[in-house]
Amino acid sequence: MAQTPRLAAVTGASSGIGAAFARALAARGFDLILIARRQERLEELASELAASHGTASEILTADLILDADLARVENRLRGASNLELLVNNAGFGVGGPFVESQIAGQDAMHRLHILATLRLTHAALQGMVERRAGAIINVASVAGFIVSPGALSYGATKNWINTFTEGLWLELRAAGSPVRVQALCPGFTYSEFHEVAAMDRTKLAPPAWWFSAEAVVAESLAALERDRLFVIPGFRYRMLVALVTRIPRGLRRWLLLRFARRSGRLRVTSVTSPD
Ligand SMILES: NC(=O)c1ccc[n+]([C@@H]2O[C@H](COP(=O)([O-])OP(=O)(O)OC[C@H]3O[C@@H](n4cnc5c(N)ncnc54)[C@H](OP(=O)(O)O)[C@@H]3O)[C@@H](O)[C@H]2O)c1
Repeated sequence: MAQTPRLAAVTGASSGIGAAFARALAARGFDLILIARRQERLEELASELAASHGTASEILTADLILDADLARVENRLRGASNLELLVNNAGFGVGGPFVESQIAGQDAMHRLHILATLRLTHAALQGMVERRAGAIINVASVAGFIVSPGALSYGATKNWINTFTEGLWLELRAAGSPVRVQALCPGFTYSEFHEVAAMDRTKLAPPAWWFSAEAVVAESLAALERDRLFVIPGFRYRMLVALVTRIPRGLRRWLLLRFARRSGRLRVTSVTSPD
């Protein structure tokens, strides 16, 4: 009897970390549901994966900030009885002082990082819990651990992903479910992210702080085998997060305020002292 193929769904599969997940999962024998807006990119990737691994890919062209598109993807995931893995990866960054930013971009980022993650997780998880098998990887960021003046709502959405995923982990463990969840928290990663956000990579961090999307995905999938909840690729980033999260909140805010005032890249027009 033919075996049901293993199936994984990846949002934001048309570039960067999402495309690297698709390639790594295809190499592990998964069939794929590839989700993003750029259909041509997804078709190219599907052809590549079919040629290199014999992978069957289903393409779902969807703008996940639109209700109708999100509902279509939700329905597909809810009906996927052999879905073993969902990677909620699609995302982008909106920077600059919040008050000066375009609210439409902020709204779209929150819909994508929070609502799409919430709804697709719900759609996939119900079947996984019933089948007592499966896993969900939510792509957050090191920024989710740090309040960053100049990119505060990006970090806030990623902090939501961390908190949400940790809460899911607790609920699933408490219920004795073997379904695994992971919050993947990369630092700076080579992808199209910084072009989309119109950021100059060279001004952000020295090369030692940059990772390839493939390295990030390799750490994530290896950690999934070990059922790790928070995955922060790279020793430097693990140290940074350990340090930042251990500094008392008041001291952390004082340091961030000094940094924000000195930083040339931040045009904060009015900062009031929290003291
Ligand atoms: N790169 C970094 O330094 C870094 C660090 C930490 C965390 N992350 C996170 O990693 C994730 C992947 O980013 P990346 O670095 O791989 O950037 P990327 O190369 O720009 O990829 C972003 C992906 O998200 C998709 N996407 C964007 N808006 C979408 C929408 N409205 N509907 C559906 N798909 C959408 C894009 O596809 P289409 O344009 O085709 O829709 C693309 O496939 C994001 O959640 C990001 O926040 C990145």
